[in-house]
Amino acid sequence: MTLTATETSFKAPSSTALIVEEINFLRREKNAVILAHYYQESDIQDLADFVGDSLDLSRKAKSTDAEVILFCGVHFMAETAKILNPNKTVLIPDLEAGCTLSDDCPADEFEQFRSKYSDHFVVSYINCSAAVKAQSDLICTSSNAVDLINKLPKDRQILFAPDKNLGRWVEKQSNRKLTLWPGSCYVHEAFSEEALLKLITKNPDAEVIAHPECEQNLLDLANFIGSTSKLLERSKISSSKEFIVLTEPGILHQMRNQVPDKLFIEVPGMDGCSCNACPYMRLNTLEKVRDALLTMSPKIEIDEGIRLKALEPIKRMLEMSN
Ligand code: 13P
Ligand code: SF4
Repeated sequence: MTLTATETSFKAPSSTALIVEEINFLRREKNAVILAHYYQESDIQDLADFVGDSLDLSRKAKSTDAEVILFCGVHFMAETAKILNPNKTVLIPDLEAGCTLSDDCPADEFEQFRSKYSDHFVVSYINCSAAVKAQSDLICTSSNAVDLINKLPKDRQILFAPDKNLGRWVEKQSNRKLTLWPGSCYVHEAFSEEALLKLITKNPDAEVIAHPECEQNLLDLANFIGSTSKLLERSKISSSKEFIVLTEPGILHQMRNQVPDKLFIEVPGMDGCSCNACPYMRLNTLEKVRDALLTMSPKIEIDEGIRLKALEPIKRMLEMSN
């Protein structure tokens, strides 16, 4: 690759402040918007134009007039932005930033599974590939899953993929039976029940707030369950002063910033491991954000036939959740 004069001038080693300066210069030069999920490292959240959950981010991706979207999140999130913006350049800092939920639901296997339930309405969690979205009737996020399912006719049979934990929680909230694809997020399944019980005993006044991707035994111990943005909102409006947070610890950065007078406690993984941090989200770094803007890569590309099919259930979600 031949670098231009502007590009080579950024090759010197840089401190965090210098890299942020470089990113600020490049985002103006390229007319780029930087969108970041709550699970990104703090430095990335701090420089993003917008930080949010999957639903907020897809709305932002749809409404932006920037020419370039640099999506600091995982692949399915950037892919959703590209599905909504075929004429924009959509970049992701690291193309390897995948997601276990999405990876464990390959499109060909999903097609076979779906064919057994051909009379079912297919609702897919946004954490899936464009090729799975293209086989779906409706997309949902953890923010709107219950509301959307409640809007579907009661006599309609529903196939829900790919997260069985979210699916079971939606079943309980909506009081209806769903046919579930057996996927899960290994980050949310890594939380230790034993460690949680110890934290509850040690902090008896703390409210336990959990993401619905957690397993049932942990959700049973939660006082409040919701998407990342709903957990953040809950931490603001609840009268509790302490929270035990059962989701990826990246969200604690926003909680501590936005609600500085309250205490936020993270739950470790089994055997005290830090496997509660999403390894895919954490592949993105400030350096890779800078390099993505510098080289305008890696770019998200999608087959146009798949994109058009995947667009319909996403549009339906955005219309139904307005
Ligand atoms: P949210 O939509 O709640 O931000 O969740 C996305 C996600 O990947 C959770 O693991
Ligand atoms: Fe996927 Fe889990 Fe990471 Fe969310 S936390 S992006 S569901 S692997």
